[in-house]
Amino acid sequence: MLPDHFTLTNGQNIPSIGLGTWQLDGDKGYNAIKHALQNGYKMLDCAFAYTNQELVGRAIKESGIAREDIFVVDKLANTWHSAAEENLKLTLESLGVEYLDLWLMHWPSPLNHHGNDPKTPKLADGSVDFEKDWDYVKTWKTMVELYRKYPEKLKSIGVANFGVKELEAIIEATGVVPVVNQVELHPSCNQQQLFKFCEDHDIQLVAYSPLGSIGSPLLQNKDLAGIAARNRVTIPQCLISWGVANGWPVIPRSSSFERIDQNLQIVDLSKDDLNEITIIGSQNRQRFVTAPWHSFADI
Ligand SMILES: NC(=O)c1ccc[n+]([C@@H]2O[C@H](COP(=O)([O-])OP(=O)(O)OC[C@H]3O[C@@H](n4cnc5c(N)ncnc54)[C@H](OP(=O)(O)O)[C@@H]3O)[C@@H](O)[C@H]2O)c1
Repeated sequence: MLPDHFTLTNGQNIPSIGLGTWQLDGDKGYNAIKHALQNGYKMLDCAFAYTNQELVGRAIKESGIAREDIFVVDKLANTWHSAAEENLKLTLESLGVEYLDLWLMHWPSPLNHHGNDPKTPKLADGSVDFEKDWDYVKTWKTMVELYRKYPEKLKSIGVANFGVKELEAIIEATGVVPVVNQVELHPSCNQQQLFKFCEDHDIQLVAYSPLGSIGSPLLQNKDLAGIAARNRVTIPQCLISWGVANGWPVIPRSSSFERIDQNLQIVDLSKDDLNEITIIGSQNRQRFVTAPWHSFADI
């Protein structure tokens, strides 16, 4: 049986499947989130940078589901590393919630808070405008301080898009290990080395873009289609099941009621099928999410 949750080092239970909320905007996005909550989703993956927090908050409120039955994840935006406390306050206000179950540093990439763009400020030469005299270690120290200052507002803190080098740096500087590292994770980007490091340090990986994001070639892969057909499910269901079977929560996004429902129905794939999915991924290695403010150490 596949688990319906994983337990973090602080004892908190994180659901095995959550709804990604990136690009869930307007009435369609609001209806998708409300539908997901009313039909069994127990986790929402949100971010200040998605600029849809009020809509998410409205969907939470109007879903009629009790706040304590939803695991709400949100993320500190890159341009707010030097103003993290204010970002937290705005996030809680926009979502209309008293606390976050998990607050992540979205990227290890502090960008100019007073730059020429709220998301990707640029310098005159077109390069990314990073925050001066600041780095992600300083940001993690601030997040740790806020976590200690506001235990009623932050149940746990973690990071996203961190590699081994960045994890080592924040742990060494503070002695505080993030409970979660949320990264791109699917068969084509299986994060083997990072998984080993996180396992050794009790950091729970969470899989973002688990289907390969928008226009994913994984969804057209003939070998994956074969595995899906013999298990009478779809490729997305295979990919989500593969993640949960491997030991991490998965946060697929969809704006369609049908696909939202489908993504929650995971299956216990055989060891052979799980291995085959891993092999197909290693033969088609690809990272789908990249950003101008960060270079990943691998693929
Ligand atoms: N921490 C980070 O930096 C970071 C980065 C990227 C993503 N994330 C998080 O991870 C979440 C998921 O990643 P993602 O949004 O990039 O991509 P994803 O969940 O891998 O894929 C989403 C795409 O797959 C389609 N889809 C979903 N279910 C499907 C199904 N059953 N059958 C066919 N197509 C399906 C969706 O289209 P339809 O809407 O039409 O169904 C959408 O185009 C995000 O929403 C966000 O919350 C975090």
